[in-house]
Amino acid sequence: MESKEKPVSEQTTTPPAMERRRFLQTMGSAVGLAAAATLAGPDDVLRTVEAAAQSLSGLSPKQAAREESFWLGIQQAFTMSRSLINLDNAWTCPSPRLVTEAVVRYTWLQEEEPAQQWIQKLRPRQESVRIGLARLFGCDPEEIALVRNATEALQIVLFGIPLKSGDEVLTTSLDYGSMVSTLNYRQQRDGIVLKRIDMPTPPKAMEELAGAFERAITPKTRLILVSHIAYLNGQVFPIKNICDLAHQRGIEVVVDGAHSFAHLDFTRQDLDCDYFGTSLHKWLLAPKGTGLLYVRKDKIETIPPLMSAPSGRRKANIRKFEQVGTHPAAPILAIAEALSFHTVIGSKRKEERLRYLKDYWAERLRKVPNVRLYTSLQPEMSCGIATVGVEGVHPVAFRDYLWERHRVQTARIVSAGIQGLRVSPNLYTTLNELDYFCEVVEDVAKKGLPEPHKSFKPDDTTTG
Ligand SMILES: Cc1ncc(COP(=O)(O)O)c(C=O)c1O
Repeated sequence: MESKEKPVSEQTTTPPAMERRRFLQTMGSAVGLAAAATLAGPDDVLRTVEAAAQSLSGLSPKQAAREESFWLGIQQAFTMSRSLINLDNAWTCPSPRLVTEAVVRYTWLQEEEPAQQWIQKLRPRQESVRIGLARLFGCDPEEIALVRNATEALQIVLFGIPLKSGDEVLTTSLDYGSMVSTLNYRQQRDGIVLKRIDMPTPPKAMEELAGAFERAITPKTRLILVSHIAYLNGQVFPIKNICDLAHQRGIEVVVDGAHSFAHLDFTRQDLDCDYFGTSLHKWLLAPKGTGLLYVRKDKIETIPPLMSAPSGRRKANIRKFEQVGTHPAAPILAIAEALSFHTVIGSKRKEERLRYLKDYWAERLRKVPNVRLYTSLQPEMSCGIATVGVEGVHPVAFRDYLWERHRVQTARIVSAGIQGLRVSPNLYTTLNELDYFCEVVEDVAKKGLPEPHKSFKPDDTTTG
């Protein structure tokens, strides 16, 4: 069922009717917020965001998502160049200024005396980062490992889970390449049987997705790998339903949460998965090279680390997954600043803002002749990411045209039956930028690409 609300592209982009007093209050906060975000230290930014957020307290997260005055302040907390339009946040996201500044501060601290600072001061402080992440994810801190990215988190699990020859593992056509290739290694090394479920893009209803897993399960199925949000088209998967039907049959579930953590508002309890891996440099906006691995407590002992850790006392200790040798403390510690920024905005408010931005451009473009959306706009089926194509226009040529002629960054998707551009705005994206993007796509849908992009010929590297 499509949402009955008026499409956002038909709604006013100026702040909706609200009392004059609250409007002025919000505007005042936003202007202050913009100034503080640009000029002041991290504490001031957080205080000002918090004050501005309080002025939204009478509004639901969905209503708050449309308060441009508030989001203007948030946009100013970033150091993004406005000479380009970055609609490719599903790769990695820019951090807000306070996070980048924290990385610099912690780097100087470590440089005072690298070894001693690390051992005595910086490493112990990682524990508060672990606690902060566990609070957001809703689990015990002893179930959280601080790793470098989703790749590391998920490969620890996918390489480590005990599986034997003939055991079946389910994955989907929308799962990420390096996770699937990890399972290909297990095929070669251990003789597991990897079964790929082809998913519709988009499905008509969420039930189709859980149903596809249910039909693919056999008595030999031992493990399911599933993306919470698919990287190809932003499809949200019904993780709890999949976990329920898996657990009833003694099957474990690994969730690739690269795009869902700090994007959707949820806790571990809402998923009930056994393992979850994510990159924090994506939607949490933390420093590059930071990630999180969740392993359900009773399973930690059964998964060996990818790099050997001291045996014995570390067997059931989640920190065994962090033994990667010397590495910088600053990115890990500055996760705390990213968590603070996320928390003052509010998880649900952020989710609704990301969904609003996606709806803003997608609702407009889906009515345009020759335009095809590969993502459902039903609120539970997608959030900030969606994929769009124009009939007869190759995604590589389209992406290059958008970048070379218009400085609009998108990602080309040629996979799983999708021929389109993945579009992923972020909190710093303005409606004006999305209008510009829509105008360019409308023009291409009407007239096609100009030369030389029109003559683009796909080869092996561009066919996906
Ligand atoms: C679904 C998914 N999983 C995992 C990854 C890997 O993330 P990273 O490169 O940060 O390890 C990505 C990267 O975009 C992704 O989209």
